[in-house]
Amino acid sequence: MSDFVTVNEVGPRDGLQGLGKTLSIHERLMMIGALLDSGIRSIEVGSFVSPKAVPQMAGTGELFGLLSMPDTVAYSALVPNLRGYEQAHEAGVKSVAVVLSATETMNQRNINMSLDRATEVCVELIQRAKQDGLQARAYVAVAFECPFEGQTSPSVVERLIRRMLEVGADKVIIADTIGAANPLAVRNVLERMDSASLAPQISCHFHDTRGMALANVLAALDWGVREFDSSIGGLGGCPFSPGASGNLATEDLVLLLDSMGLITGIDPVSLVETVQRVRVLTGNTLGGHSLRWLERQAVKRQEASHA
Ligand code: COA
Ligand code: ZN
Repeated sequence: MSDFVTVNEVGPRDGLQGLGKTLSIHERLMMIGALLDSGIRSIEVGSFVSPKAVPQMAGTGELFGLLSMPDTVAYSALVPNLRGYEQAHEAGVKSVAVVLSATETMNQRNINMSLDRATEVCVELIQRAKQDGLQARAYVAVAFECPFEGQTSPSVVERLIRRMLEVGADKVIIADTIGAANPLAVRNVLERMDSASLAPQISCHFHDTRGMALANVLAALDWGVREFDSSIGGLGGCPFSPGASGNLATEDLVLLLDSMGLITGIDPVSLVETVQRVRVLTGNTLGGHSLRWLERQAVKRQEASHA
């Protein structure tokens, strides 16, 4: 199993979409700049959704036009429907993420579609993306618990994952939208599938609502997952999902992986400065469980460089 783990930063999308205020395009660009400076090379930049539903994501097309290092960074965007897909394609997006929730009610609340309709739309979008030469990612949201319907059936989640892969998704992101998963539940979903053949196509997206995100990461790592979503400082939460709070903080994820000898290309201590810069932009008191300790390491490093 590979020692390299991809850390896909979702702060600019999942983080900002629930923020009480709307950042300007320039501020969103500065946030992405701060992430790039720490070595992060996989970023979900935003979404192409209705600005009435999510005003924080308006102007994502314009933002794409301003991004630096387009060939060395895996930038992606979330698209909920054909209109969003077309806008993303036009803006030069090379990787799109479609979103399918595992329950009826969550699809209705999030994108105003039934589960069947949302599945059809995702299939169409994935096929279209592949025809157009784009990378296609597929979120399976509320994969463990739904804020409206309670526990999610692992067999439904498995069926949706397999369907998305079957129609050509390059990656399926198993998302614990409200942070209700635990390591056993993560295993129960993953162990329905053959790790040897499917692990490279699976990513996990955890929220830290109940403090279990890192434990869930460990369960997923054990099965073979080598890509995880996280958000700088733990910023985030889905506005259509009551109870969804902060994402797994990027600094916690990177520190865990780094401590275990896994390679991310990101220096955990450098994330201290990134968190500080994003704090200033968002006006939020951000920070994962490890931030205090990382801050002390950053001070020590600075002292040593002046000695
Ligand atoms: N981008 C921008 N605007 C869009 C759009 C898109 N991808 N898709 C639809 N719209 C606009 C329509 O033009 C219409 O605008 P109008 O009211 O000015 O005429 C309005 O949104 C409603 O369009 P409709 O096709 O009836 O969609 P809907 O009301 O069923 O809403 C979504 C569907 C998907 C557009 C909407 O639910 C949405 O954007 N949800 C956000 C989901 C999200 O970001 N969740 C968090 C991440 S998982
Ligand atoms: Zn999320």
